[in-house]
Amino acid sequence: TPDKAPPQEGDILVHADASKEGQPIKISDLSENLVAAWPMGKDKDGNNVIRKGEPNNQLAVFRFEQGGFEEPGKDDHAELKLDGIINGQVVAYSNKCTHAGCAVPNDPNDATKLFCPCHSGQYDALRGCKVTGGPPPRAMPQLPIKLENDQLVVTETFVTAPYGFLTEGDWEQYR
Ligand code: FES
Repeated sequence: TPDKAPPQEGDILVHADASKEGQPIKISDLSENLVAAWPMGKDKDGNNVIRKGEPNNQLAVFRFEQGGFEEPGKDDHAELKLDGIINGQVVAYSNKCTHAGCAVPNDPNDATKLFCPCHSGQYDALRGCKVTGGPPPRAMPQLPIKLENDQLVVTETFVTAPYGFLTEGDWEQYR
């Protein structure tokens, strides 16, 4: 069903917080503190569908004023497409920990990192969300986006190492 499908080209990112759920995210909403988002697409009749039936579609969106993104190394089990980052500043990732599935907030000591409250997994948001500490086996995948009419628009689905683009049903092997 479309609500469980992975994000697709042309989807827009909308707020996930209950108070604004479904409202399109604007660049001005963003900072280095993550904003929770869902991808929203269309069903076959052209109606909007928030793709919240798949927990891995829960997204974290960041805006780092200074940029500073770097592609992760070959052995990092992470992927970062620099052309899927808006203005070298705005990046989106899946926000479900690859260890046991918790949502992962910013590290209180360094907003460019994420710190999982469940078992202290750590990720680097400037380097493809590669794992920098704790038990997670892999990066949280990036969702490449672009800016169009002041909206954040998906350009292709989740990109992962070593599996490439992640499609429906691929999450099992990604663990
Ligand atoms: Fe995140 Fe275990 S669920 S470290």
